[in-house]
Amino acid sequence: MSEAVSYKDLGLVNTREMFRQAFAGGYAVPAYNFNNMEQLQAILLGCAESRSPVILQVSAGARRYADPTLLRYMAMGGVKMVRALGSSIPIALHLDHGDSFELARSCIDSGFSSVMIDKSALPFDENVATTRQVVQYAHARDVTVESELGVLGGIEDEVAHEASHYTRPEEVQQFVERTGVDSLAISIGTSHGAYKFKVGPGEEPPPLRFDILEEVERRIPGFPIVLHGASSVMPEHVATINACGGKMEGAVGVPEDQLRRAARSAVCKINIDSDSRLAVTAAIRKAFAEDPRSFDPRVYLGQAREALKRLIVYKNEKVLGSAGRV
Ligand code: G3H
Ligand code: 13P
Ligand code: ZN
Repeated sequence: MSEAVSYKDLGLVNTREMFRQAFAGGYAVPAYNFNNMEQLQAILLGCAESRSPVILQVSAGARRYADPTLLRYMAMGGVKMVRALGSSIPIALHLDHGDSFELARSCIDSGFSSVMIDKSALPFDENVATTRQVVQYAHARDVTVESELGVLGGIEDEVAHEASHYTRPEEVQQFVERTGVDSLAISIGTSHGAYKFKVGPGEEPPPLRFDILEEVERRIPGFPIVLHGASSVMPEHVATINACGGKMEGAVGVPEDQLRRAARSAVCKINIDSDSRLAVTAAIRKAFAEDPRSFDPRVYLGQAREALKRLIVYKNEKVLGSAGRV
């Protein structure tokens, strides 16, 4: 990447004020991952329509997929598109699961307003050291930083940990004080991907560990908490995928009631990627099943974009409580 650009010149905001308002209002700001134009449009249009603040979330894999320079201009174009519609929703551009100081710095220099440094699989002191390094670089540019304590289960392209473990509440205060981080992702039983729990027919997934969340809240009162792996894996999308030639038996996510409860607590940011992937995949499979002659990407990707926009509005209104806050 050539010259550095500040997120402020792209019309973006960091997450500080977003989280302050979410905490006070008892809701969570949605963080939706995107990799392409249709996802970006659906997220922004869905959040503009439901008047929700939004965190556009980019993983290292997404950055490689879309090209870092193109991504910067896509985000800038997205902001301009939303403003042209007369919407003033706050928009943050956030690095998801950054695994090195160099990656975080590169994102900050290319216009990200917020970054996550994820060294949660390393020993506590190493996690502190790298997080501290990222915080120093980021805060000098008014960029906010998320870090993680505890390890989520589940496997995705960039996020694969062999052994998951819950966050230890007794560590959070020291971590926050030593790093200066702005928000903290914790592990309370969620995991990444579409197969979060093994449940038999008619069984409910095990409840999240709200006792750990409450103990964390007690030790760092008022501090914004982040929930990863928070897709609910909507059964209708899984059913459509399976009915239209897909094979996703046993896909299960976090029940919506538990996400609603989390959103009312100190959890100020809820990460959603798998639900979006499922909505897009279900719509495309359905489009091809209904019209096998279809070959114009604008038709089936357009249907996928509409389905994703509906999902975004639904999540903001009915699950996270972020709708109508702008
Ligand atoms: O938490 C991980 C996100 O779902 C991003 O996944 O690394 O495959 O882009 P990805
Ligand atoms: P899901 O896989 O549950 O959507 O989680 C996404 C996530 O945590 C991105 O960081
Ligand atoms: Zn995550």
